[in-house]
Amino acid sequence: MKEYKNVTIFNHPLIMHKIAILRDERTGMKEFRELVEEITTLMVYEAFKDVPTKKIMVKTPLEEVEQTIVEEHAVTIVPILRAGLGMVNGVHTLFPTARVGHIGLYRDEETLEPHEYYCKLPDGIENSVVVLLDPMLATGGSAVGAIDMLKKRGCKNICLMNIIGVPQGIKTVAEAHPDVKIYVSTLDRGLNEHGYILPGLGDAGDRLFGTK
Ligand code: PRP
Ligand code: URA
Repeated sequence: MKEYKNVTIFNHPLIMHKIAILRDERTGMKEFRELVEEITTLMVYEAFKDVPTKKIMVKTPLEEVEQTIVEEHAVTIVPILRAGLGMVNGVHTLFPTARVGHIGLYRDEETLEPHEYYCKLPDGIENSVVVLLDPMLATGGSAVGAIDMLKKRGCKNICLMNIIGVPQGIKTVAEAHPDVKIYVSTLDRGLNEHGYILPGLGDAGDRLFGTK
């Protein structure tokens, strides 16, 4: 795959261990949901080394000391419905006060084109770093559609987080939106004729919510 400036593929051994269990068809809904959250927290920890911070004074029992804390409202979490919802708690573990917007998109099963059905974003989102969440980056159509919607709302600082991606999806998003930072835990081989990632993990939404 061509290298893109703003694309990071973690391949971190601690994340890869969890992805191995996530992929396993025997992994049930509860464990799947917990793993998605844990992987997301690890990804955010790696990706947000340059999160906006501010200085405050803290009084210990002994003296006052200047400390660095994360700016409140520094980030806004935006899951792509449905499967992105499974990643929200994983970001909240590290950014407990982050506000959450929602973007509803589904892929047409025939054309694989994304269709928008919902969008509710917090006021002031355009001044924060938007963490756009979706476990699966397949054709890239849903991610490009979601980023288009965020940019129409004035968002300038967007980062996309996917647990599994494929070269086609990364190329599509990186070339449509070269300014967006893309973080992917691991890169899979490609897509089957129905647009499913291979080897992948199946339908992320169904496995998170038990709909199949
Ligand atoms: C899945 C997944 C992504 C999208 C990825 O959602 O969660 O949003 O497919 O595919 P793409 O990169 O080819 O656009 P789906 O459309 O199945 O909706 P769901 O989450 O409601 O099941
Ligand atoms: N969406 C999923 O949930 N899984 C895939 O493999 C591709 C898109």
